[in-house]
Amino acid sequence: MKIKELENAASNFGTPIYVYDLSIIESQNRKLQNAFKNLDNYKIHFAAKSLSNISILKFINNLGIGLDAVSIEEVKIGIKCGFNKDEILYTPNGVSFSEIKEAKSLGVKINLDSLESIKDFSEHYPNHSISVRINPGIYAGGNEKISVGHSNSKFGIPEEFIKDLIKMDKGNKIKVTGLHIHTGSDITKNNQFEKGIKKIFSIATKFKNIESIDLGGGIKIPYFLGDTETNLNDYASAVEHEHKKFKNNTGKES
Ligand SMILES: Cc1ncc(COP(=O)(O)O)c(C=O)c1O
Repeated sequence: MKIKELENAASNFGTPIYVYDLSIIESQNRKLQNAFKNLDNYKIHFAAKSLSNISILKFINNLGIGLDAVSIEEVKIGIKCGFNKDEILYTPNGVSFSEIKEAKSLGVKINLDSLESIKDFSEHYPNHSISVRINPGIYAGGNEKISVGHSNSKFGIPEEFIKDLIKMDKGNKIKVTGLHIHTGSDITKNNQFEKGIKKIFSIATKFKNIESIDLGGGIKIPYFLGDTETNLNDYASAVEHEHKKFKNNTGKES
């Protein structure tokens, strides 16, 4: 964006002012879609926590992107902006069960990250489809505050409890159709992505009804000229590789 355009925006609307360049949002989207195009079936989601401006969310929805929501407010904004309910993934952390019930009644996809809330969910909605956030036990991310997939993190179900989930799934108390990890943000080391991808696909083979795997965020963009960024092609190749192995192991098509 040219300085002159910014100056015009400031004099037309006053300051402080936030200016967003839709052409950059479009080109970033193209970059992502292009990197993952060899996968049979994938969907890019935008994390509403990073920006909940209604006009921009509508624009993002029109690009065919889904929404990642972590609060009931983000869920409601997403619905208001026209996102399909089955393309809104709601991943709360430490909320009361009434909020989860509200999200369920709104019809969005529910992704839970504690055994307690999953048990509550199974009592209220036995054998209803649910996605589960796993803690992969991996330290990854641009700094300590945005590294959220390590074993001391409050996010996600630690691996040692996966056996409890498998038991509930086998006993038809819950129907695990999705798995999710979010290891951290601003990840540039591809082996950190690879570890997470390998782990989640291997956990997926233990459940009989998996329809989707959500790999969270983690993609680093350059914040200034010459800054580092995630190598999207390497990341996408690692996903393709593990997905292929998963299909061969389970006979699943997508
Ligand atoms: C559940 C979930 N999904 C996605 C994201 C977005 O991650 P990123 O900012 O790395 O794109 C976050 C960030 O905290 C998250 O908690």
